[in-house]
Amino acid sequence: MEEKDEKNFNSEENGKRKEPKTFLGIFTREKFIMLCVGIGLIALLLIITLTSVFVITKSDASFDMDIEPFPSDGDMLDFLIQIGEIQEKDGLYATWYHAANNKSEMNKALNSDVMILEADINVQGYNTANETNIPIMAHPPDIYSDNTLEEWMDAVLKSKKGIKLDFKSISAMEPSLDLLRVKNQTGINRPVWINADILPGPNVPNFWPVINSSEFSLTLWQGKENPTVNDLLFIRDNSNPLRIYYDIYEPVLSQFKEAAKVRNRPRRFYPGGDIIDYFRPVNSDGLNIQWDTVTNKDYLLYLLEGSQPELPLQDCLELILASKKSWGIYLRIKSHSQLSLTLELLRQAYDRDLLHHPTWINMDIAHGAFYIQDYVTGEEFLRTIDQIFPYVTLAPGWPKEVLDEGYKPKLVEDMVQLFQGAWQDVSLQLQAEALDRSVTGCRSLIHAQSRFSLTLEHRTEDTGLNTGTASLMAIRAVSRQRNFYNMPNIYKEHIANLSV
Ligand SMILES: *[C@@H]1O[C@H](CO)[C@@H](O)[C@H](O)[C@H]1NC(C)=O
Ligand SMILES: *[C@@H]1O[C@H](CO)[C@@H](O)[C@H](O)[C@H]1NC(C)=O
Ligand SMILES: *[C@@H]1O[C@H](CO)[C@@H](O)[C@H](O)[C@H]1NC(C)=O
Ligand SMILES: *[C@@H]1O[C@H](CO)[C@@H](O)[C@H](O)[C@H]1NC(C)=O
Repeated sequence: MEEKDEKNFNSEENGKRKEPKTFLGIFTREKFIMLCVGIGLIALLLIITLTSVFVITKSDASFDMDIEPFPSDGDMLDFLIQIGEIQEKDGLYATWYHAANNKSEMNKALNSDVMILEADINVQGYNTANETNIPIMAHPPDIYSDNTLEEWMDAVLKSKKGIKLDFKSISAMEPSLDLLRVKNQTGINRPVWINADILPGPNVPNFWPVINSSEFSLTLWQGKENPTVNDLLFIRDNSNPLRIYYDIYEPVLSQFKEAAKVRNRPRRFYPGGDIIDYFRPVNSDGLNIQWDTVTNKDYLLYLLEGSQPELPLQDCLELILASKKSWGIYLRIKSHSQLSLTLELLRQAYDRDLLHHPTWINMDIAHGAFYIQDYVTGEEFLRTIDQIFPYVTLAPGWPKEVLDEGYKPKLVEDMVQLFQGAWQDVSLQLQAEALDRSVTGCRSLIHAQSRFSLTLEHRTEDTGLNTGTASLMAIRAVSRQRNFYNMPNIYKEHIANLSV
């Protein structure tokens, strides 16, 4: 266009030789066109400059401390929800970057879509004559790094990443925490996890004090060896999704996430787990769990399939384990040899990854005030279970010979003492008809409920509806989640009616 205009202008000039036209009385046409082009260029330049300023400002904002205040001791999942990284409060969705230590690794991590940066801290020159108290980002055996903790924090605080610091020596702790306190004055605004191996693991011995499972969360992390997807599902299915994180390598992590999200997949229940958690009865009330006694194959088939010989336990287990319905297994054991054999079968099923049902081992045992010859002793019961297959709920009962005067306090005390140290769940098995015989004993049982659940049984059908109900209702008043009712429906309905 410009060229053409110019030609026209030239031809006009050559042809008519008129006075050059002026615009606004100041510019010649040529000058005016040049001015327009100039203004156009300036405008274009301005637009480009403004856009790039805008783009730079914008990307800076996403990198800058525009994130809302957040306490450094806050919940990681709350943080990830707040910044929009995850939609559901579930540790499954948190992702981790390992060893974001030196500058190049740190920048790689910052530019990735990983949510939480994990980095290792030591002091510079650790354990040499040149040791300083400057915290640096290095994984042993490295004791020098191109990145100090201060530089690391400055870079990471400009991002929205969560922080997990793994301390590799105790001498790095104090200067690092000092630095964190300083950084906190201008705002850390994200959770900071402090990690250090404080227990020699795995398989910490049982004399180690138990950490109580509400302020704590767990992070599963792995070494070189991959866990199996089934192992991970087993852990997920038996833990609170809000309290467990998975710091696991690919490709297992993705396979696990896929498998975990499948709807209505059978739950891989820990057989020693809580049956309230397994059956989820209405109102978490043990009264709403149905118990059935299986003595022959036809009845079992009827129960399992809804359609009716002596039944060997192995067949019985195979049938239950193959069923798609939710079943708990309650095994009433009569002799020591039966106990070992039963536990062997359970162990085999568990090893084949089939046993994901709450499993209770019931046995009337002898101990202290309820020592009766020919009954397996409490110690023997515990020892055999621990040796062969311990992942069960212990369901001990008292020999019927000692119950003439009911559950006297001494009977209860000795039972409590026997199982106090067991790490499994314990449910004491009580005969409803013997309950009312000792009022003080009933009080001891209520007291025992802080540690044990209670299972109330009606074994004989010919006692009246009201046998034992006074004590039973007193026990029931304390907790509905810690009492179970292994009895015919007619009794359960009676109790339900008394409860309203
Ligand atoms: C940073 O760390 C990575 C991973 O350990 C390593 O491969 C790389 O060589 C390191 N870079 C520097 C500059 O030290
Ligand atoms: C300490 O630093 C000095 C000077 O840089 C160096 O010559 C020496 O080898 C270092 N010592 C150790 C144990 O690293
Ligand atoms: C970090 O800063 C916040 C906000 O000023 C403050 O409430 C908190 O107590 C500080 N934490 C520590 C450990 O100093
Ligand atoms: C564990 O902590 C919770 C919550 O603080 C508390 O309710 C519970 O009684 C504690 N359990 C034990 C065994 O200390």
